[in-house]
Parts: sequence; C-alpha cells; structure tokens
Amino acid sequence: MGVKSIAVLTSGGDAPGMNAAVRAVVRTALSFGMTVYGVKRGYNGLLNKDLIKMTMRSVSDIMQHGGTFLYTARSPEFNSIEGVKKAAQNCREQGIDGVVVIGGDGSFRGARDLVNEGIMCIGIPGTIDNDIACTDYTIGYDTALNTAMEMIDRIRDTTESHDRCSVVEVMGRHCGDIALNTGISVGAIATLVPEVEYDFQRDLVDRMHLAQKTGKKHFIVVVAEGCGHTQEITDRIQKETGIESRTTILGHVQRGGSPTLKDRVVASRMGYHAVKLLRDGVDNRVVALKGESVVDFDITEALNMERFFDKELYKISAALSI
Ligand code: F6P
Repeated sequence: MGVKSIAVLTSGGDAPGMNAAVRAVVRTALSFGMTVYGVKRGYNGLLNKDLIKMTMRSVSDIMQHGGTFLYTARSPEFNSIEGVKKAAQNCREQGIDGVVVIGGDGSFRGARDLVNEGIMCIGIPGTIDNDIACTDYTIGYDTALNTAMEMIDRIRDTTESHDRCSVVEVMGRHCGDIALNTGISVGAIATLVPEVEYDFQRDLVDRMHLAQKTGKKHFIVVVAEGCGHTQEITDRIQKETGIESRTTILGHVQRGGSPTLKDRVVASRMGYHAVKLLRDGVDNRVVALKGESVVDFDITEALNMERFFDKELYKISAALSI
C-alpha cells in the first residue's frame, strides 16, 4: 500500500454535511489500515500542526450535527508560497502522505498548491452555494435549500396577514442556485439571480400588477445575495407599486442546522471515494456528483470549468410566478 497516513480538513465556509464527509474519510481510511489525522481549522491546522489522531470512535455522533467538528477557517498565511511549503513540510514531518480537503474552489486551489509541493491531495466539494463547476452538487446545498424554504414559509404567514411584499435575500455569493430553487419552492412572484439580468419594471412591477388583477394581495420576492442592494430593491418596490414592503436577509441561518438525508448520504459517498483514490495512488482530483454517480476530475481542470446555470429551470420559475 502506497499511502499509509492521511489527514482530513474542512476549509472555507462551513456547510451542513461536512461532518458526515469527515466521518466517511476517517472510517474508510482506518478500514484500509491507514493512520488518519483530523486537522483543526482548515489549512491553519497544517501550519500549526494542530492535528488529532482519529479512531473509529472519534467520529461517532457527529453526522447529525451541522457545522464542522474539525472547525474551519480561511487561512491568509497558507495563501503564500512560504505558507504552502511550511504546510507540506509539516505533513512530511508527521508522516502524512495525503490530505483530503473539504471545501470550495478556494480550498481546492490550496490543495493543488500542496500537490505541487509533493503532498497528495483530494478535494471534496463542501459549500451551501452549489457553485463548483465540476459537480452537480455540493455538500450542504440541500440543507440550506430546505432551511431557506422553511424560513420563507414563515415569512409568508406574516406577509399574507399584512397584504405586504417580502423581499428575502438568500445566500449565494456569485451563484443563484439557492435563490432559484428556493424561489420555486415558495412560489415567489420573482426571483433575482446574478446569472440573469432583470428589468425592474417588467420583472417586478408589471408582474406584481398583473398578479394583483387576478386577486393576489401578498408577494414574496427572492433575491440572491450576489445581486446586491436588496434593501434598495425593497424600497423601490414599495415606491413603484404602493405595496408595503419589508426586507429579510436570511444570512447564516442557512449555513446551520442538522444536515438532510441527501447531504449525509452524498457526503458519505464522496468521503469514501476520496480515500479510495488515495489508496489507489491517485491524487490531484476533485470528487464530484454527476447525475447519480460519484466521479472525480483533475483539480486544475475542475477549477477551469465553466459553471452551468439552469436557464430552463429559470424559465419555469418565471412561468409559474403569477
Ligand atoms: O460560500 C458560502 C457562503 O455562505 C456564501 O453564500 C456567503 O456569501 C459567504 O459564504 C459568507 O461568508 P462568511 O461566513 O465568511 O461571512
């Protein structure tokens, strides 16, 4: 067996389901006879040698919890060549041959840099945004969607009671996937995403007036964080339609909570796949879900891929929002 000892870390923004991925990595590696270290606080833990030697029981009772029990961080020191070299050296000193990195594109760039310094790395996509081009799915996305949907269902109760318009901002730094799917699930009158340009008069004011003519009295507008200016959108809706309007920014509530079944199962499958690659001597790969299959891509190729935005789903969303 080539790889004898590996480490696992979570990096960047946390996402529900990361614990299930760590659990899968640890248990798969131990069952293959490897030594496994949990690294605390992302790449910072590699720089500070903040490592815990894992046993089968180290990952008991974590899968149902949100967050990441390894903690996470964005590490400015690791972003320098010196930082990467130091982390690689620390791995060598500890006898670590391979690292599994659970995070987003920024974390995968770090993994690629470590590979260039001779440490085998595999990435697992973990972020609620679903914004990683090579995969149909990122760990945490389903939980975030369900949380956003539940929160907006609650907002609808009060919006309806007052005949108001609620403009709800959901997360998604550059990506409208959370907004689009949540918007459909809550029957939003309009959903604004960074991938599609919108016309305020046509897509908001006219659509709301048309719906009013059919008897509709309250409205939900979902805005992806990446569109920006949510409060301005609310103010303008109120001014131009005369409908009393309120803003809610859901924020980090979407990043917490017990992961859904989908997140736990996908995370478990991806964790298993990642360790199998290392066992087989394969590195510099990102694990991905394509359709129902777990596959993997070269990290550099994955980072250069163009992300797919579901324009057909966007059309459906617009067609139904009346
Ligand atoms: O990438 C996940 C994400 O939750 C984005 O949706 C959001 O823009 C960002 O992280 C927030 O980051 P932070 O927790 O550092 O404020």
